This record gives sequence, structure tokens and C-alpha cells, in this order.
Amino acid sequence: MTRILGIETSCDETAAAVIEDAGDAAKILSNVVLSQIEEHAAFGGVVPEIAARAHVEALDGVIEAALAEAGVTLDTVDAVAATAGPGLIGGLIVGLTTAKALAAAAGKPLIPINHLEGHALTARLTDGLEFPYLLLLVSGGHTQIVHVAGVDRYARWASTIDDALGEAFDKTAKLLGLPYPGGPSVEKAASTGNPRRFSFPRPLKGEARPDFSFSGLKTAVRRAATELSPLSDQDVADICASFQRAVTETLSDRVVRSLERFRSEHPDLDTPALVVAGGVAANQAIRAALEELCREHGFRLVAPPIKLCGDNAAMIAWAGMERLKAGLAEDDALSFAPRPRW
Ligand code: KG4
Ligand code: ZN
Repeated sequence: MTRILGIETSCDETAAAVIEDAGDAAKILSNVVLSQIEEHAAFGGVVPEIAARAHVEALDGVIEAALAEAGVTLDTVDAVAATAGPGLIGGLIVGLTTAKALAAAAGKPLIPINHLEGHALTARLTDGLEFPYLLLLVSGGHTQIVHVAGVDRYARWASTIDDALGEAFDKTAKLLGLPYPGGPSVEKAASTGNPRRFSFPRPLKGEARPDFSFSGLKTAVRRAATELSPLSDQDVADICASFQRAVTETLSDRVVRSLERFRSEHPDLDTPALVVAGGVAANQAIRAALEELCREHGFRLVAPPIKLCGDNAAMIAWAGMERLKAGLAEDDALSFAPRPRW
């Protein structure tokens, strides 16, 4: 049996979790996520300095809670895994340094984890997925499609040439005066809006390259909002619904390129999996559009539970478990420096 303590502090969630693998199946013993949303809401986005300070204040308590909830102590875990990048440098230093101290004091190995690897491997914990599969990662900082061939065998097939999708949601919300974080606010407002009132652009639609672009969409939203100002609640709802329709159509058009490529590289696989992860994967309209797309192309959509889609430490602990099992935990990890742009 192997147990791993995971720590995540790369953005605005202070998180710790314990995963146990008894050989046949792995389970999450605890998954504590403390969101800093309230600290950042007044600023309409994450303020790095505030985030770093909040991690300093919260992390010890969050780790204690994760260990207590799992019913384990530091002495009975086998390794400590922590996000080492990419992310905000202040938070990374807090999390990684704390993890190093705990690992050194308890005489356990430290496993530095790439945050994106955490998102990439989550579906193997929740759905027991086999390699290879395709990952669509859509969060506040990332929009990419990754071919996942194995642990440490990742190839980026597509990424955004400007804004991340979550960022487009957040900026749209800000433009419309909706509360932070923008994704859930836009989705809520869209539910009472007319998705056909505005015809916003579908950036890169029809182009052969597999990448994403969202900044034109945000510009179009700004133009519509300026022309209609002052906006009624119905205007806001209609803009959100039209924005969301443009997003789902753009996403589908872009993702198809990679589904086709995956199919041609793995003709032997019957119903390959497309995994969607990252905070934006919580959006029901996006999930529905991806479901539909997968059905049309003979793929199956695997979407981890919403709590494991957004940032959390269970995914970091799990990535640590995968690396440990694959013999990829490094010996000199205590000297590993945080990599904000990893
Ligand atoms: O993965 P995540 O928790 O943090 C990182 O960025 O790594 O993702 C947060 C992002 C934010 O941009 C937020 O607005 C977006 O995910 N988001 C959503 C929804 N819930 C969160 N976007 C669209 N619809 C949602 N329901
Ligand atoms: Zn993330």
C-alpha cells in the first residue's frame, strides 16, 4: 500500500490531499481545497501578492486538515508531492518549500509535480482510464490539447494563440459588470439569454491548424456592450448566451482537428477517450457540446467530477503516485527549484 500527501498552491487555491493505493484501486482519503475567491473578488482577478500571502497563512492548517481527515500522520505517508510549476511564483515557493521541509523532516521522498500533469492524469484516478487518450485542458491559464501516451509522455497538439478560455469568460464577465470568477457568472446569466441575438466571431473556424484563439471574441463582446450601454439585465443575459454559443461552436470546430489526428494515429482503438479537465470543464453547455462532438466522431467524453476538474491537490498526489510507480521520482528532488513557466 502506498500513500501520498499532495500539495497545490500554484494559483488561488490552497489545497492538500491524501491518496492511497492498495494495489487494486486508488482512493482519495481526503481532498481539502481552500479557495481565495473572496480575497481576490474586489479586484476582479487573482492578485499574485495577495495569493502568496494567503497561501502562507492557510497552508499549514490545510495540510493538517487533509492528514486528519485521512486519518494518517506524516510518518505513515510514503512521499510528499507538490506543484512546482507552472504558476504564480509566490504560491509555488510557499507550497514547494513547505513540501520540502515536511519531506526532509519525515525522511520521505519529495516529488515535484507539473500542475498540468496533475490535470492530465486525473481521469486515470477517477475513471481508471488506460493510455493513450486525448486531453482538452481548459482553465483560467491554459487552453490546450495534449496527447497523453503515458506517464511523462505528453505531446501538446494545440494551444491558444492568445487568451485562455477561462480568461475569456473572466474578461467577458468583467466587461459586463458580473462578479468574479467570471465563468460561473456568465453561465448563470446565459441561462436566461437569447443565444442568437448577437453573432459573435468564431475565431480560426474552418482553419486546418488545430489551435485556439479567443481574444477576438472578447473584443466583439466589448463592442456590443459599448454600443448598447447602459446595459439592461436582458442585454447582459443575451450577450452571455451569444458568447457561450460562439465559444461552444468554436471549441467544437477546433477540437475536431485533434480528434481526427488521434484517430489516424491510433486506428486500432475502438472508442478512444477525450478527457476534459480544468475549471471551464464545469460549464454545462461546453460539456454538452463536447458530448455531442464525441458521439459524432466515435469518441467517448470523460469528464472528472467538477471538484476534481478545477485546481485541487488530489490530482497532484495522484500524479505523484503515478510517477512513483513509474520509477520517475527523482533522488535529488529536494534541490528542485520552482518553475513558474514550466
Ligand atoms: O482550473 P481552474 O480552477 O484554475 C486554473 O486556472 O488553473 O480554472 C479556473 C477558470 C476561471 O477562469 C473560471 O472563470 C473558469 O475556470 N470557470 C468556468 C466555469 N467555472 C469556472 N468557466 C466557464 N463556465 C463555468 N461554469
Ligand atoms: Zn489548473
